[in-house]
Formats: sequence, structure tokens, C-alpha cells
Amino acid sequence: MTVTIAREGAIAVVTIDNPPVNALSKALRQALIEAVATLDADEAVKLVVLLCAGRTFIAGADVSEFGKPPEPPHLPDVVARIEGAGKPWVAAIHGSALGGGLEVALGCAYRVAVRSANLGLPEVKLGLIPGAGGTVRLPRLIGAPAAVELITSGNPIDARKATALGLVDLVVDGDLRQATIAFAEEAVGKPRPQRISDRSVAAVEDGFWDDMEKVVAGSAKREIAPVRATASVRMASEADFATAMAFEGETFLELRGSAQAAALRHVFFAERAAPRPPELASVAPRDIRSAAVIGGGTMGAGIAAALRDAGLPVVLVERDGTVVERGLANVRSIFEASAKRGRITPEVAAERIAGVIGIDDYGSLADTDLVVEAVFEDLSIKRAVFAKLSEVCRPDAVLTTNTSYLDPDQISQGLSNPERFLGLHFFSPAHIMKLLEIVPTETTAPEVLATGFALARLLGKIPVRAGICDGFIGNRILKVTRAQSERLLLSGAKPSAVDAAMRAFGLPMGPFEAQDLGGLDIAGFQRKAARERGEVSFAPVGDRLCAIERFGQKSGGGWYDYRPGDRAPQLSDAVAAIIAEEAHGQAQLAWDEASIADAIILPMVNEAARILDEGVAVRAADIDLVKIHGYGFPRWRGGPMHYAEARGLAEVVALLDGLSTPGLADPPCARLRLAAERGGFSALAGM
Ligand code: NAI
Repeated sequence: MTVTIAREGAIAVVTIDNPPVNALSKALRQALIEAVATLDADEAVKLVVLLCAGRTFIAGADVSEFGKPPEPPHLPDVVARIEGAGKPWVAAIHGSALGGGLEVALGCAYRVAVRSANLGLPEVKLGLIPGAGGTVRLPRLIGAPAAVELITSGNPIDARKATALGLVDLVVDGDLRQATIAFAEEAVGKPRPQRISDRSVAAVEDGFWDDMEKVVAGSAKREIAPVRATASVRMASEADFATAMAFEGETFLELRGSAQAAALRHVFFAERAAPRPPELASVAPRDIRSAAVIGGGTMGAGIAAALRDAGLPVVLVERDGTVVERGLANVRSIFEASAKRGRITPEVAAERIAGVIGIDDYGSLADTDLVVEAVFEDLSIKRAVFAKLSEVCRPDAVLTTNTSYLDPDQISQGLSNPERFLGLHFFSPAHIMKLLEIVPTETTAPEVLATGFALARLLGKIPVRAGICDGFIGNRILKVTRAQSERLLLSGAKPSAVDAAMRAFGLPMGPFEAQDLGGLDIAGFQRKAARERGEVSFAPVGDRLCAIERFGQKSGGGWYDYRPGDRAPQLSDAVAAIIAEEAHGQAQLAWDEASIADAIILPMVNEAARILDEGVAVRAADIDLVKIHGYGFPRWRGGPMHYAEARGLAEVVALLDGLSTPGLADPPCARLRLAAERGGFSALAGM
């Protein structure tokens, strides 16, 4: 880390060089305070430009200091020193000014940014609020409504929007250093803008805060940080600067020690680690410059769109000409919908659509680097596809299957060069969902596995390595969720009570509502296939609903009844009667929300422990990522494994023992018991 000072006439340029992202380490905080003192003492200096080397302005706090007691100098003091300096400072922003980086920029008298810069306060995403004056200075600069929006969403804005809000004084094209020095030279001799801490917040309309608090609490679901951030901005608007700073500081410290912040930090680190697993660190992936997708249905079209979003040219192969057109139409509608929502411009949409070529033969795949198969979930159809790919593709082309439940080892049988084969399990909608389960077979070469991770990085997905078993990691745990939900029904809980309890736990939807939305038939087929393989699958009520073709919303009824044209679930007498029959006089218990959630979540943890034991997942944190990014598990709970550890594995084991005695769940597996004894899953890593 270096902080250097150069002089250009009356302008001093302070350059921070703290790779990779100029994070605000203790050493940097110290150096900034020293720079203020040095430059204040220098008579010749009239203004100071604060610039960063490398790819970005100060992109935030130093992650290695996360969760540790803060060491002086504290950032609020650094910002106060810059703001209080005798010479006005000008922040010259490129890349990202995030979190503490933006707070430093708010201490400056002016902010200049390149057009491509991003500015934001993402602290809520880590269960925190800005702690160095962000909630206090920002509303003084841009007004409370815009400040609440920026701080509670945690999403950055671009330089253009920042200028419109008054957060940035000048957007520049070309050389940032030169442009900012020129800006500073013009400012010499002009009156210094009033320090932000001396300003007051523009008045808001009557009722603004009451409305805002309701809106934020609603959209935050049960996350506390956005709610507390709103309170902090409100305090900043209604109290003097010092009182508001003290309030912000107290809130920040309280949240930093909270369970939600610990969970969100856990997820943050798991997400950072996932794209580059240490065991593949020395393995070079193969180059992927072109891709083909076989099958243009729901998944194939979404995967093609994801590949296009990453800039790859895509060939889409379907069975015949008519279905090719349908596949291309599926892709087109994805991009048109994105353009309609304003996510991309119509020109970009057109360019992405034009980059997909539809064909019904395999002839043009001779030079394709990567193929993703997404045809019907049928072993013989998939094998026939790979037999053709064997003939036409280069021997080093990476060939992958998006199967949900089939065994990739079986799909790849007979394939030439089977070391290039890999399972890539995308989630629907594939261009949106972040999770990618990467499933190597017995013969997959390490560099092909590494290519799966490289592809995930290219697509901006969260990759998790999964071993082969029925449902890999995510769908295997989903089966337990569903089985437990049915056990609850047979022991006295109503479907609506189960759904409500899981929503209260933080899931976007309960298990029965979700099945009615997605359709009960696919899981029904899978259970049938599993039973044909000699496996046991528990879904007594679900099977009866499938038998009478109650497949969910699409058939007018499933776990609930639906009135025509209305998606609101209505309690179903028919379903209640089936539940009563299947309960066979089983004891009916009084379930409350907490005990329902325990009866579903803790068996998921038990299954996850088995998954770890079998090596189907490499790390407990990977399972958390799967459930968060593929199945809506609340991020602020850290995923099921973090949740179980935070709750205490000994308690989890005791509760599972209690559920298993009357047959309401499996007993805790050996791995879970051992993890409880040793103090956590990570204590068993490598066992
Ligand atoms: P889909 O039925 O929507 O699409 C399958 C497409 O494959 C159809 O357009 C069909 O014409 C085409 N096709 C069939 N045989 C072909 C062949 N020999 N050559 C070229 N195209 C052929 O099915 P969906 O939902 O897209 O599923 C595809 C695969 O993805 C399945 O293996 C499924 O298990 C898996 N999957 C599905 C998910 C979902 O949520 N729908 C999630 C993750 C994986």
C-alpha cells in the first residue's frame, strides 16, 4: 500500500495505490490522515485531488477486517479530517466508489467521476448500515428520499444518475487525472462549498417517514439493516449532525455484532470463494469462445440467453425446422422481455438475438468449444444426442448435460473422449438464476471440471461442485423438504399453516404453494422412476393428487383449489379429505410456526450432513449457496448449514431426536452428531 503526493502547481494530487481495490485498510486510513496534515501545512497547495491507482477508486472496507473489532484510526474520523481540512479535497472517481469509499468522497468538497464509474453504499447487503457518515452526509447532499433509496437498496448507481442527484459535480470523459486537476484549478479562488456536515437536510413532505418506514419494512422482509438504515437517515434529517453521527455509529456497532450480519458475511465469503475452488487452483481451463445448446425448450432457451449475455456466439440445435423456430422464438422472447423491463436496450436485445443461429442438424458443430445438452429428460434421447456429438465435435470440445435427475455417468456411456464430459445443472429461468451445479463424472478430466467453473465465472453464476446422486445437492434436499411437509400434514398441520410458517421463516413461498405453481407432475414422475429403481419415496398425499390429476395451478387445483382466472390459493375440502384418509388415525399434534419450520429445516440439515458425508458436496458453505441461490432460502439466515451452526448443532441434534421418536423425521445422521460434538461442520472438513 502506498499513498503518494505529487504537486501540479497549486494542486496536490494524493494517489492511493492499495491493490486490488484500494480497500480502506488501517494503513490506508492512517496514511490519509497524515496526507491531510502534510497538505494543510503546505502553503503552496490550494486544493487537493484524491485519486486512486489501478482499476477503481476506494471500493470499500478491507474484507480481511470484516467481523473484527475496528482499529483506529476509525473511518468516521478520517472522513471528518478530510472534510475539515484547510484545503478543499476533490475526489476523482473511476471504477467503484462503494461503502467507505463513497463516505470518503462525501468528506471531499467536490466529486468528479468518469462516465463508467459506479457509486453506492452496499452495507445493507452485509447486514450493516454505512458507519462513517453515509446515512448522515448523503441526505444532506442529495435529500432524504434519494438517500433512503440508495442506502436501503444497497445498489450502486452510475455517474450519470449520481450527477442528476447532485452526488457528483462533474462527469468527465478521457483522462480523469487531467480533468480533475483542471476542475480543481478552476475552483481555486472560488468560495469553498459549504461542508456537508454544516448543511441541513431538505424538508420532506408530511407523512414521508411513516410511508417510507412501511415501504422499506415491507420490501426488506425480515432483514433488519434496511429498516435501521432508514431510521438512521431519518435521525440525520431531524437531528443535528453530531447527534445523527452518534446514532449512526451506535446502530452500526449493534448491527455488526448481529446474527444477520454474521450470516450475510458468511454468504459473502462463500460467494467470493465459490468461483475459484482451491483444489482447482493449479488447473488451467479450456478456452470457451463458442457454444451450442441442444434443445430450445424452457432450459435450452434460457441457457442460450445466458451464454449470449456473456458474449458467446450460440448455435441452437432442435429436432426439426418447426421446433427450431419455436426455440429461437423462446430466446427472442427472453431478450424482448429484458428490453421491455429496461434491463437492456432494444439494440442490445437485437444483437443478442442475432447471435443465436438455429439449426436442425449437427453439421456446424465441428468447431464448437462447448455444448450444453438440454433435451427431454430421457436417457435414451440424451444418449442419442451425445452419440451424434461424438461424431461431429472436436475431441477436445467440452460436452455437458443439464439433466436434473438422470445419472451423468450413464448419459456419457459410449461417448468418445469421455474425459470431456460434465454435468452442468442450470436452474430455471437459466438466464436469471445464479446457481450452477457442476457435476463431474468418474471420467471427467480436471481441466474440464475447471472449465465448468471458468464458464460460471464468464456467465456471472455461482458454481457449486456436486457429486452424482439422485437430485445432486439441491433437488435431493428438496425431496426431504417435500417429504417433511407431507409428514406435517399427516400429523395435524394444514397446508396453509405449513406454507405460512415457511414464509414466516423467510422463504418467498411455502412448499405447497410452490408445487402448485411449478406443477406436481414432474416430481410425481420422478418418484415413480425412483420406485422402479427400488428406492423409497414418501409422498402419500402428493401421489394421490397426481393420480387424480390435481397438478397445481395449471390444472385448476393441486394442494389448493383455484377459482378460474385467480391465482389466490383456496383451501380444498378434497385435499383435506385425502389428508385425513392418509393420516390413518395418526396422532394430530398442535403445530405452531416455529415447530413447523424446525420439522422442515432441521431434516434438510440432516440430509445435507449426509450429502457432505458422501462427498456429494465438498463444503458445508456450498450447500448454503445451493439453497440460497437455487431455492430461495433466506440469505440473511446464511443458508441451512450456517443457520444450524448459529442455532447450535447440539440443539439441532436434540430436536431431530425428538422428531424422530414418533417417526416425524429421520434420526440425526452420524456426521451431524459428530459435527455437533466437534463444534461445527468445518471441524470435519476433509473427513
Ligand atoms: P422442454 O421440454 O421445455 O425442452 C426440451 C427441448 O428439447 C424441446 O424443445 C425439444 O424439442 C428438444 N429436443 C428433444 N429431443 C431433441 C433432440 N434429439 N435434439 C434436439 N432437441 C431435442 O424441457 P426443459 O424443461 O427445457 O428441460 C430440458 C432439460 O433440462 C431436461 O433434462 C430437464 O430435466 C433439465 N432441467 C429442467 C429444469 C426445469 O426447471 N425445467 C431445471 C434444470 C434442468
